[in-house]
Amino acid sequence: MSDSLLRRRSIVPDRPGGQGLARTLGWPHLIALGVGAIVGTGILTLIGVGADKAGPAVILSFAVAGLICACAALAYAEMATMIPASGSAYTYSYVVIGEIIAWVVGWSLILEYSLVVSAVAVGWSGYAAPLLEAWVGAPMALMQGPELGGVVNLPAIAIIAAVAGMLLVGTRESATVNAILVLVKIAALAVFVAVALPAFDAANLEPFSPYGFAKHMGPDGVERGVMAAAAIIFFAFYGFDAIATAAEEAKNPDRDLKIGIIGSMLTCVAIYIAVAVAAVGAIAYTRFANSPEPLALILRELGSPLAAQYLAVSAVIALPTVILAFFYGQSRIFFTMARDGLLPASLAKLSPRGTPVRITIFTAIVVAVLAGFIPLGELAALANAGTLAAFTAVSVCMLIMRRRAPDAPRTFRTPFPWVVGGIAVLGCIYLFFSLPLQTQFWFLVWNIAGLAVYFLYARRHAVAD
Ligand code: ALA
Repeated sequence: MSDSLLRRRSIVPDRPGGQGLARTLGWPHLIALGVGAIVGTGILTLIGVGADKAGPAVILSFAVAGLICACAALAYAEMATMIPASGSAYTYSYVVIGEIIAWVVGWSLILEYSLVVSAVAVGWSGYAAPLLEAWVGAPMALMQGPELGGVVNLPAIAIIAAVAGMLLVGTRESATVNAILVLVKIAALAVFVAVALPAFDAANLEPFSPYGFAKHMGPDGVERGVMAAAAIIFFAFYGFDAIATAAEEAKNPDRDLKIGIIGSMLTCVAIYIAVAVAAVGAIAYTRFANSPEPLALILRELGSPLAAQYLAVSAVIALPTVILAFFYGQSRIFFTMARDGLLPASLAKLSPRGTPVRITIFTAIVVAVLAGFIPLGELAALANAGTLAAFTAVSVCMLIMRRRAPDAPRTFRTPFPWVVGGIAVLGCIYLFFSLPLQTQFWFLVWNIAGLAVYFLYARRHAVAD
């Protein structure tokens, strides 16, 4: 078929019965899934990487990344309630734009979800390793990747194995455990702000923006600036899209997806700005920039070792919720693409408990190897590249549908759609080009490989609507 590259799916692509996923999740589960996926390594660890790139103006980087992400979240909420089916950005692109774009988006989501799992596992290890060293004398060489002078990051590999095990046990149980751990995480950040904010000293904010706004290469070969930091900090804000990938398992998707996406996004933006202001105001940013556990370090430097330990233990207990949510999203993207015929159907086989076992185990092995050896900053940057591609596509889909079917039922309508959608599209593109050049290169390589798979396999196997 000559037009098959832009072949589109019908607006409700779910196939009832047969391979459908069980509808077990209510809106509290979805908000918990959202906050559980959003608050993680971004605020706990990448805040240091961001401060290194932007200085105290990392606060501005949080605001810029948060604004762009919030606009994309609104477009997501509209699309998720219009098309409440598994696969999020991939499925919306399939319905609205066409197959080849859907493929690129799905392939980008696979990159995003996989690398977030790896990155957060490395971030988790950053807080876990000092505790393991102090408590059981575990050697640092086996708890850090080669870039930090270690051999392999074993704790990162172990936590991925543990979360994969949880997923294999079943979604419902995992989502409930997730809800409890989300509270642990929020309490820890509240303690951080309560200790750090009273130590606020305006002198720590001078000079506010030592590296300027736009990304540029510094003499030391590191790309810096408020936007370079925003492109990394962006990692801290996404995760609400993991809710959209659970659409097919939501009990009442029309109402619950909207509440889940917007509720979790707003909660997180508020928490982050408070934490960023408290962190940058408490001590000079150079002291925590690039630390594997910056928030704990700040608390120690403020003379509160107990609070530091409480925060580290909370991070260790609660960060696996982020891994869980993205791992879950990953297996569902695979599931949906395989169900559509774009990936081998054998991958989509569900266990009697409704879990795609093969995808889960395959993903676990790949992301564990990456987490064992690749530095956090590089994993996060490439995950961001995949996410930015998906967010751009969703925002474009929202705008196309406003023109193509302005009166089609939507239980959520983005306010000022052309402004919000425009900020989301242009902002995501600007963030993408603010990523390190090396990241942009690897993203291109990933997509060239993806297109090869598309033309050699997926295009011929796509299941007709
Ligand atoms: N937003 C998630 C985090 O910061 C990916 O860990």
